[in-house]
Amino acid sequence: MTPPIVLSIGGSVLANEPLTPDPFQTLAEHLDNAHEDPLALVTGGGHAARSYIQTARELGLDETGLDEVGITLTRANAYLLIAAFGNDAYPRPAETFHEAAHALRSYPRVCMGGTHPGHTTDAVGAMLAERTGAKRLIIVTNVDGVYTADPNEDPKATRLDEVTHTELVRLAGDAREAGSTTIVDPLAAQILQRSNMPGAVVSGNDLDNLANAVNDEAFTGTRIEPHAKES
Ligand code: UTP
Repeated sequence: MTPPIVLSIGGSVLANEPLTPDPFQTLAEHLDNAHEDPLALVTGGGHAARSYIQTARELGLDETGLDEVGITLTRANAYLLIAAFGNDAYPRPAETFHEAAHALRSYPRVCMGGTHPGHTTDAVGAMLAERTGAKRLIIVTNVDGVYTADPNEDPKATRLDEVTHTELVRLAGDAREAGSTTIVDPLAAQILQRSNMPGAVVSGNDLDNLANAVNDEAFTGTRIEPHAKES
């Protein structure tokens, strides 16, 4: 099997309020034109997930239950991306890594949402990349890379063109709440580190730039370097 490229696509890139087909359609068309390797795509929950989680929290649901609500919405978004890819896509969101890996043998596009409580779809993307021996993981989000601090809170924050796995783990910190919004999930960073998986963090606003990251060409964003370059 040709190793896939895994994309973890933040829900905010695809599913805002109001929900429309355009972001799904445009992303699918762009990836089809730009790339021929098999692609495994993990979709985030976006606005709807945050809204459902917030409402369920106000109703008193426990954290694991809130995560399960989030997972349901990430799978709903996976269905929309499957619809956008048409016949090239495995026809339902894979629910396990095993199912996704198996589906990649027959379909050039396999989509999935979340898997288990306690992490976000970026961690799912990292595990899927590890499980499928992917070439790299591309984290597609609504900011243009990893910053030294949260740019919304610290005006001196600067974007890092490259990070090692160790730096990424440190910057990811330790957020664990349902609906948490750190730039990279701490578990995702740890999985990438242990599997020495190359990757990138890139904005979903510029699809040509995103295609460059997918194709391992020069791009604007943050490149995640394997350990070999750390010494
Ligand atoms: P997301 O991956 O969308 O989280 O999952 P996010 O960081 O809010 O990303 P954006 O906003 O889409 O960019 C939404 C929520 O679903 C639950 C978590 O509560 C997460 O915050 N979830 C998701 C899980 O518990 N497990 C999973 O495997 C995936």
